[in-house]
Amino acid sequence: MSTFQAPKGTYDLLPPRSATFLAVREAIAAPLRNSGYGYVETPGFENVELFSRGVGESTDIVTKEMYTLTTKGGDQLALRPEGTASVLRAALQGNLHKAGLLPVKLWYSGSYYRYERAQAGRYRHFSQVGAEAIGAEDPALDAELIILADQAYRTLGLRNFRILLNSLGDKECRPVYREALQAFLRGLDLDEETVRRAEINPLRVLDDKRESVQEQLTGAPMLRDYLCDACKAYHEEVRALVTAAGVAFEDDEKLVRGLDYYTRTTFEFVHDGLGSQSAVGGGGRYDGLSEMIGGPALPSVGWALGVDRTVLALEAEGVALDIPAATSVFAVALGEEARRVLFGKVTELRRAGVAADFGYGGKGLKGAMKDANRSGARFAVVAGERDLAEGVVQFKDMASGEQTAVPLAELVDTVRARLA
Ligand code: HAM
Repeated sequence: MSTFQAPKGTYDLLPPRSATFLAVREAIAAPLRNSGYGYVETPGFENVELFSRGVGESTDIVTKEMYTLTTKGGDQLALRPEGTASVLRAALQGNLHKAGLLPVKLWYSGSYYRYERAQAGRYRHFSQVGAEAIGAEDPALDAELIILADQAYRTLGLRNFRILLNSLGDKECRPVYREALQAFLRGLDLDEETVRRAEINPLRVLDDKRESVQEQLTGAPMLRDYLCDACKAYHEEVRALVTAAGVAFEDDEKLVRGLDYYTRTTFEFVHDGLGSQSAVGGGGRYDGLSEMIGGPALPSVGWALGVDRTVLALEAEGVALDIPAATSVFAVALGEEARRVLFGKVTELRRAGVAADFGYGGKGLKGAMKDANRSGARFAVVAGERDLAEGVVQFKDMASGEQTAVPLAELVDTVRARLA
């Protein structure tokens, strides 16, 4: 019988690479926790309608990529393809949006599922860390989020990423632009599917990667020229605040995001070392989403950064994160009595907050010392029957090889002093 494999488009996170994923999640979360964002966790699945209404009936995510299921009780659910609709639903349900408490600032970290054509950097199960600032129309919030994402990437040591920024207008000016764009697109020579897309979601056509389409788009009306005064002023303020923070960005008037809920500010973080799946993160303002899912008007903004692609970007740049060894002390016992005593000492060390591990499996000295080496521990503690008879253990500095006898009763204090 052949063994099972992880499903197509998924992969397992195994040590040592999994440590990098944890460090990336932590590096993205730290600036959020430090800026007034509270942690939120929502179910891995939701009522399917939350996404079809929220993310949009015409998006690839809803039409092609959702994992949907009918429960035995007859409920129509979907594995979450993204986090924004769920987090907003949770904030509404939990009544976090009471007047006077806005904006509600939340951050999250978790798994998301899209039935996509799997390739490098594009998976069917992937991981995001995200942030949402719900219930305030304030350009400083948009700026804050862009600045915090930039800070997270820089702390990780990432350099070759760019920030693309655009405004998609609001419910006043976007419909006017949409019509102008549609009129223009109707005059082009496009294939059937693109013609259909132009009728449902014309802005997505601007995003078409094919040269044959891009050539025809020269001279297309641009949203920038249709923005109403309020949207223009808002966007200028966001740009000014981000610029003042010393964060560089590129205006990209062709940036259209793959989710329907965006209004005004939209942005994407792209990395040039990743080939076609270059977006390491993205987000923007979604002033109408709350009403789309049955809530009151709650203008909001947020982003999600892809953990998988951020790790790939780090690898592409050759950045090795400084991840300290998980184990500080490794204990090697020779003989039954020593085993019992040292196992007790390891428990004591752990309770004292020292990361300690033990040579299991009855290996001899040589094999156990190999384990000690592999663990990355700074110190090994070795004891046999003769040591115990003298009331000592051998305390070895793994880097220098220097070894001293330490009284058993002083082991914990010695370790703590040496690690300090
Ligand atoms: P998104 O652009 O669909 O936005 O996803 C954000 C990030 O998640 C992407 O930039 C990418 O790094 C990662 N990602 C998406 N799909 C995949 C995949 N199939 N494989 C690997 N990584 C992937 C959202 O999800 C919005 N909810 C962001 C947002 C929050 N907007 C406002 N608030």
